[in-house]
Amino acid sequence: MNRSILFVCLGNICRSPMAEGAMRHVAEREGIDIEIDSGGTGDWHVGNPPDRRAQDTARANGIDISRQCARQVLPGDFEAFDHIVAMDRSVLEDLQAIRPSDAHAELSLFMDHVRGKEGQDVTDPYYGERDGFSDVWRDVMAGVEGLLAKLR
Ligand code: 4NP
Repeated sequence: MNRSILFVCLGNICRSPMAEGAMRHVAEREGIDIEIDSGGTGDWHVGNPPDRRAQDTARANGIDISRQCARQVLPGDFEAFDHIVAMDRSVLEDLQAIRPSDAHAELSLFMDHVRGKEGQDVTDPYYGERDGFSDVWRDVMAGVEGLLAKLR
């Protein structure tokens, strides 16, 4: 497996920033040299920090994501990154639709990196009535561990 990963969700303020922060933290801890970024298919939150609830959940788990900044996915990302990982199936479909035919990046679904949870979504917590951010964190940590196992 090669050495750069872009995590993608819809708004780039909840799920993919949590994945970015968690992956960077664990990779640094394990001394794995890898470039990590995140983006959104939508542009509503470009330039914003992660959602307060995402920041709080990450911080409660010892990870500071407050300085990350939302951006939209660009066609050039398919050339710049080795792996683009979609946080849910609708995002994966949207990425497949904008993927250039000569794209370098390998596209995958985040939960496909978790044994027994292949094909599942990391559920969008943004509009949830209950606090779905702890569920997102659980899924994110499982996916990060699965990805790192492939990188070792
Ligand atoms: P995310 O969550 O895709 O995990 O960042 C969302 C954030 C914002 C919106 C949707 C999902 N939104 O519609 O503004």
